[in-house]
Amino acid sequence: MRLEPEMTQTLTLRQPDDWHLHLRDGAALASLVPATAAQMGRAIVMPNLKPPVTTTEMALAYRARILAHRPADSTFEPLMTLYLTDSTPPEEVAVARNSGCVHAFKLYPAGATTNSDSGVTDLRKVRHVLEAMEREDMVLCIHGEVTDADVDVFDRERVFVDRTLAPLVAEHPGLRIVVEHITTKEAAQFVTDARDGVGATVTPQHLLVNRNAMLVGGIRPHYYCLPILKREEDRCALVTAATSGSTKFFLGTDSAPHALHTKEAECGCAGCFTAVSALELYAEAFEAAGALQRLEGFASLHGPAFYRLPVNEARVTLVRRPFEIPSEWALADTVVRPWRGGTHTAWSFLRSEAAQ
Ligand code: DOR
Ligand code: ZN
Repeated sequence: MRLEPEMTQTLTLRQPDDWHLHLRDGAALASLVPATAAQMGRAIVMPNLKPPVTTTEMALAYRARILAHRPADSTFEPLMTLYLTDSTPPEEVAVARNSGCVHAFKLYPAGATTNSDSGVTDLRKVRHVLEAMEREDMVLCIHGEVTDADVDVFDRERVFVDRTLAPLVAEHPGLRIVVEHITTKEAAQFVTDARDGVGATVTPQHLLVNRNAMLVGGIRPHYYCLPILKREEDRCALVTAATSGSTKFFLGTDSAPHALHTKEAECGCAGCFTAVSALELYAEAFEAAGALQRLEGFASLHGPAFYRLPVNEARVTLVRRPFEIPSEWALADTVVRPWRGGTHTAWSFLRSEAAQ
């Protein structure tokens, strides 16, 4: 990574990847694929479509629909995932692995978030699938929240870590697990202390703000995502983990667009759309922590190492120049509001350069 000395003006790093992304489907792909392809070399694409992507065959068809919207000059590579259900056959793991295009299975506890109704109701029901994943060295991505009605929404990740994640990690010692979009000091600590093969992604919004930004002085629906924003002490722990240099932590935006009217509603959808300014937002968070020199590891090196993929050869450059995040972005026949739309970031994405 190249950081110009003194008052750093430009920042050049290996092209990053997004290890947790929602690209949706249909007409929405036309604006969402170019948005991510502009910055990222690859992305782990979430399978929570309607209906969910539960088979390798469905994933390959979805991949083709994504690639149909890849800009002509882009080499963006969608890395596909399968949605784990109570009835996923263990044999599907080898099929997925042999496809060369499926890189992980996604565990949504049933009812935890958007389109998670078909998620896993009891981990015992997928034990044989998890064993097959261990054998095939297939990554398990986890939405780490319990869904019990009696657990407060702000405690759902913390309780999941104790009740579900810790036993799962111990029972499957060879299983590679990504705890997605961590939001609490407990999750950051758990992953820090965990055995090899346990990593975590962190979103830009969870590094930059706490729940006050969503709830003080008015309710801001565009700040609502799941797992929900937590306390300042949690945000600080996430910043410490992400900027520590530990290879366990890597970039995953969880960019999750919803049409404006479905967020600004009586019962608004969960999800922050950050794809259009992802790297600028991460740069802001790392700079605030005095850790810009660690951005490349988090954004471009740790993820490929975890997924056992080569790092990208292309480079991207950010320049210290205010960038106004657009306040609207096309989404099929409607619009989505990017997270923090209308505000500025200190860094602008300047260009992406192919390998020389
Ligand atoms: O806020 C969220 N939105 N969290 C998730 O886990 C799912 C996502 C979505 O698909 O909208
Ligand atoms: Zn997500």
